[in-house]
Amino acid sequence: MVIIQKSAALFEEKIANYLKEQSSPQSLYIPMEYMIQIGGKRLRPAVLMATSYYYNTHLLESSVDAALAVEVFHNFTLIHDDIMDAASLRRGNPTAHMKYGIDSAILTGDVMLIKCYDLLMRYPPDVALPLVKVFNKMAIELCEGQRLDMDFEKRFDVSIYEYIEMITFKTSVLLGASMQMGAIIASASEEEERAIYEFGKNIGIAFQIQDDILDIYGEEAEVGKRKAGDIIQNKKTYLYLKALELAEGVQKEYLTDVYMTSSLSLEEEVIKIDKVTKIFDSLVVREYANQLKDAYRDLALSHLVNAGFGNEGIEEFKLFADYLLNRTV
Ligand code: IPE
Ligand code: IPE
Ligand code: MG
Ligand code: MG
Ligand code: MG
Repeated sequence: MVIIQKSAALFEEKIANYLKEQSSPQSLYIPMEYMIQIGGKRLRPAVLMATSYYYNTHLLESSVDAALAVEVFHNFTLIHDDIMDAASLRRGNPTAHMKYGIDSAILTGDVMLIKCYDLLMRYPPDVALPLVKVFNKMAIELCEGQRLDMDFEKRFDVSIYEYIEMITFKTSVLLGASMQMGAIIASASEEEERAIYEFGKNIGIAFQIQDDILDIYGEEAEVGKRKAGDIIQNKKTYLYLKALELAEGVQKEYLTDVYMTSSLSLEEEVIKIDKVTKIFDSLVVREYANQLKDAYRDLALSHLVNAGFGNEGIEEFKLFADYLLNRTV
C-alpha cells in the first residue's frame, strides 16, 4: 500500500497546517483540533488521494482539499456519534463531549460540517459542483443510516437485510464517495466513477462488519473505544442478529431479554456483556461475520477490475481491502 501510505503521511502534514489556520474563538476550534489530533487512521483521505493518483499520477497534491473535507466530515460525524452512543472513549482518549461538554461538541461538529463546503469550494466550479453533488448525496444518506442505527436500538425485529442497508448508509457510502471524489478530481469517466464508488461502498460494508467484530473481540487498548459498547447500547449488529437467527426456543428468548436491557449499573453492564458474549461464542457468530466480510470483499473486487486502473492500482486497492478486513485497530 505504498501510495495509500504515502498519501496518509502527506495528509497528516496538510491537516496539521489546516488546523493551525482555525483561530477564534478558541472554544469553537479547540475541540476540533483535539478530535483530529488524538489519532485516526485517515483511511478516507488516503484512499481519496490514492484514487486520484492512480487515474493521474500528478494529482496527489491537488486532491488534498477534498481529502481534508472528507476527514473533517468524518470527525464531525464521530463527535456527534459519540454523543448519540453515550461513548466516553475515542482513539484511546476521552470523547469530545466528555472533554468539552455536549454544547461545545454539538456546535464544533456543526462548524466542521460547514468547513467541508469551504474546502470543496476551493476547486474551480466545474470540479467543485460535481464534488458537492456527490458529497451531499453521501452526507444525507449518512444521516439516514445514523438515524436507522438509533431507531434499531429499540426494535426487536430488525432483519439482516435492514442491517446491511443501515451500515451501507451510516458508514460505507463515505468510503465510496471519498473514492468517487478522487476520481472526479482526476477527470475519470462516469463508468470509472461508478465502479470505484461501488468498490468503496462494498469494502465499506465489510469494514463496518469488522468494526462490529472489534467492538466485542478487539483489544480496548488498540481499538481505543470502550469494549462492547454496542452490547451496552443494544445495537443491532450483525453478530447479534445472526445469533438471534441461530438461537432457538429458550435461548432465543433469553438472548433477547438479556440484550434489550438498559440503564444498567456498571456491575450489571459487565454481567450483560459476559452473558451475551458467551452466547455469541457458543453460536460461533464471529465466524459467520468473517464469512460475510469475505463475501463483500469479493463483491468489492468485482467492481475494482472495472475502475480503469492498471495492475499496480488494482494490487494496491486489493491490499487495502485485505488490510481493512483484518485490521485490529
Ligand atoms: C470509525 O471509523 C467509525 C466507523 C465508521 C466504523 P474509523 O475506524 O475509520 O475511525 P478512525 O478515524 O480511524 O478513528
Ligand atoms: C459509525 O458507527 C457511523 C458513524 C459515525 C456515522 P459506530 O457508532 O459503530 O462507530 P464507532 O464504533 O462509534 O466508531
Ligand atoms: Mg453509532
Ligand atoms: Mg459509535
Ligand atoms: Mg462501532
